Amino acid sequence: MRIFSGIQPTGRKHLGNYIGAIRQYVEAQERGEAILCIVDLHATTVPYDAAALRRSVLDTAAMLLAAGLDPARCILFRQSDVAEHPELCWLLCAVTAHGDLNRMHQFKEKSARQRELVSAGLLFYPVLQAADVLAYRAEEVPVGADQRQHVELMRDIALRFNERFGETLIVPRHRIPEVGARIMDLQEPERKMSTTGSTEQGTIYVLDEPPAIAKKLKSAVTDSGSDIIRSPQKPGISNLIEVMAVIRETESADVELEFDGAGYGRFKQAVADAVVDYLTPVRGRYAELRADEAALEAVLAEGAERARSIAGETLADVREQMGVGPPRQRGSARQTLGDELS
Ligand code: TYM
Repeated sequence: MRIFSGIQPTGRKHLGNYIGAIRQYVEAQERGEAILCIVDLHATTVPYDAAALRRSVLDTAAMLLAAGLDPARCILFRQSDVAEHPELCWLLCAVTAHGDLNRMHQFKEKSARQRELVSAGLLFYPVLQAADVLAYRAEEVPVGADQRQHVELMRDIALRFNERFGETLIVPRHRIPEVGARIMDLQEPERKMSTTGSTEQGTIYVLDEPPAIAKKLKSAVTDSGSDIIRSPQKPGISNLIEVMAVIRETESADVELEFDGAGYGRFKQAVADAVVDYLTPVRGRYAELRADEAALEAVLAEGAERARSIAGETLADVREQMGVGPPRQRGSARQTLGDELS
């Protein structure tokens, strides 16, 4: 099975990214052919600093490798190295409804936040995301809960393409974890932890030092009760229970049972210890990997080459079906394969 996901190179990666997504990327290597993309073209859709973007791509690559991605067992690459992505994005625009793009939650949220320019890129963001996945004919897309609507849109786009131009693309499905799909801000537990929208004190960064992690968790907002149980009335405690369950690799109910009667203070301390133990090895490996930029660039270059060979095949089919460009040449990679098979 082919599994594809993407991550933005913007900002510092937080516990939500780690638990909701990065953890799943690492597991994907066990379950199938894992393809992971650092989506620098997506990062240009909101105001950004050009030099910082280049650095952030390497930060993110080092983070993913530190988390356990292994270039021998997955394809890790930078989106802008594979020109098939923006090309397919444009071609897919032919089967994308403008109204659907206007209705995307993330477009509405992000466009409301822009002070000067709401770029057209922000509107087309989900089409590029569809191209990312469809170019690889991936079957599964591991993401956090906030990406559900984007994956639904890419399914619609693939279906509409196949209907209009003939069976060409695979309709992918999302993989959203049952626990940890939406880690919340520790200070405002009604809001998700995020790079741009959440509070500094309520966001745990993967590279935070242990004392900072402990401080943030100990000052996490909870309610006035003392029961350690999940409930819509207790978003703060529910969030901490989920974090603990994911890290311990157990059920939330087991966490509730273990800490029954412990009180919030002891529970928060236990969560802090668990998060520190969970992230400390990643931080150590990150420092080593980030120091060698040439090695990181080499990993990305090799990944891009492997990615291009897959995406190039899909693009040749898409162009052929859409009547774009000259008819496929005899002797092209795909034609040769067809000849061999017949
Ligand atoms: P990005 O970089 O914003 O987020 C990366 C992943 O982290 C997940 N995530 C969370 N999970 C749990 N709790 C949270 N608080 C939390 N915050 C973020 C996101 O769901 C995501 O899986 N549009 C994508 C990037 C992308 C992509 C793709 C993803 C581009 N092309 C193709 C899948 C397939 C994004 O915004 O990622």
